[in-house]
Amino acid sequence: MNLVGPEAAGIHTTAPEAATPAPVSPGHGSEQGHQGLPGAPSPAPTASPHPDLAEILVTEEALRSKITELAAAIDADYAGQEVLLVGVLKGAVMVMADLARALTVSTTLEFMAVSSYGSSTSSSGVVRILKDLDRSIEGRHVLVVEDIIDSGLTLSWLTRNLRSRHPASVEVVALLRKPEALRVDLDVRYVGFDIPSAFVVGYGLDFAERYRTLPYVGTLTPEVIAAG
Ligand code: IMP
Repeated sequence: MNLVGPEAAGIHTTAPEAATPAPVSPGHGSEQGHQGLPGAPSPAPTASPHPDLAEILVTEEALRSKITELAAAIDADYAGQEVLLVGVLKGAVMVMADLARALTVSTTLEFMAVSSYGSSTSSSGVVRILKDLDRSIEGRHVLVVEDIIDSGLTLSWLTRNLRSRHPASVEVVALLRKPEALRVDLDVRYVGFDIPSAFVVGYGLDFAERYRTLPYVGTLTPEVIAAG
């Protein structure tokens, strides 16, 4: 099994299993008991402009308009309040940078880095903090900014950990979510796109630390995964 990038960086991930995406699943965010945005189905895959990518699942334009949409919902929900955005390194860097600039509510930024105990292919749900927040979140409205939710175990642990620090609130915005996440008890208020269970890269997501800077999200070719 290939060791994928985030493990090398000390951050849990799931190893790629298939480069061919399954049919796109419908959004489920509205079933989470919150008023936030449901995850939209990702647009139909398009041909890749990058030789290592099999398909583009979410284009640059779709990402841009989704960030605008998420920011509008967050602005409305937090009107008149200050939001503490907590980005989970390194994958959330792109969505954090774009979302933070699209928001009009008052925000401050913090970052955490976490590592999941377990095999290289699956999260155990037991998490070690590699980089903690720089200051107390007591009484603050915390919004965790995540790139992608796979099993959801890491985020489930993280939100429990943050809630134990007595914030005013803890919510989650995740740009991408895989169907597996629906099986864990995880309340995600804002979801960008529900995508198939394929391993994806781009817009912060990596394979062996590569492809994070691609402006779109796509699947790798089987050859690249095999060589990984
Ligand atoms: P979970 O605990 O299984 O939800 O793990 C979520 C983390 O795994 C994300 O923050 C990513 O770092 C990583 N991850 C999950 N799926 C992918 C993927 O398709 N590409 C790259 N990283 C992924």
